[in-house]
Amino acid sequence: MQNTQATSIQHQAGIGLRSQHINQILDNEIAVPWFELLVDNWLADGGLTRRYLDVITERYPLTLHGVGLSLGGTEPLDFSYLQKIKDTLQHTDALWYSEHLCFSQLQSHFSHDLLPLPYTEEAITHVVERIQQVQDFLGRQILIENVSAYLEYQHSRLSESEFITEIADAADCKLILDVNNFYVNQINHKHDALTEIQALPNERVEEIHLAGFADKGEYVVDAHNNPVAQGVWDLYEETLKLTGPVPTLIEWDNDIPELDILLAEKDKAQNYLNTHLTNTKQQCA
Ligand SMILES: [Fe+2]
Repeated sequence: MQNTQATSIQHQAGIGLRSQHINQILDNEIAVPWFELLVDNWLADGGLTRRYLDVITERYPLTLHGVGLSLGGTEPLDFSYLQKIKDTLQHTDALWYSEHLCFSQLQSHFSHDLLPLPYTEEAITHVVERIQQVQDFLGRQILIENVSAYLEYQHSRLSESEFITEIADAADCKLILDVNNFYVNQINHKHDALTEIQALPNERVEEIHLAGFADKGEYVVDAHNNPVAQGVWDLYEETLKLTGPVPTLIEWDNDIPELDILLAEKDKAQNYLNTHLTNTKQQCA
């Protein structure tokens, strides 16, 4: 954990803050244990964005989640972008900053998708060096997140969990474990998601992500546009036995529903966390 505030959300489920819900949340003082901000949307220096950010910072614990770094890319890291992240971390006293284990830029081309990396030693060396640069610049550990993938590389020599583990250990960073992404990869690539999760360094997991996918019949898309599927809830229940009750986020980024629906998903995650805590206490008694 990065600071003492982190303990306040240790066993808590939160939601991603979306612009559609901000006024409703602030006007009604909606009780949510914590919010995750898609930090790329909150980097403006002034204006309404900054005013909202100040109020939210005052009322709620926050985490920052990024999509713009292209952590696994081959272009030089953008330190002007990272300076904005650093400023926002300081301004909000956010608990941590996370990014994806992927690339999204190739030369002057930018992808809206978070593209997977080949699971090779060469990629590990490359990404570890870049994570260390980011952590040195920010002066703190970051969290990296496993991504969903719609292709596999012939060059890959490792499993996804071996790839993540080697990177996390060498860079000494933390992890977001996105249960839905492992589940999506299980369906699309026939990997066993629980086996992959069991092989991770679960002591490094600081946060869990849950989301809903779009079922396309022969494959699924990590669209973040639906309630969490029962198969993902089941996998989440097993994951908590490995990680303990770490902060859990409901991600819903497309076809965003009414706030009540999002809060109900958050409450469902909280029930899983509470049940895990109760079961653990009974086993210890
Ligand atoms: Fe995620």
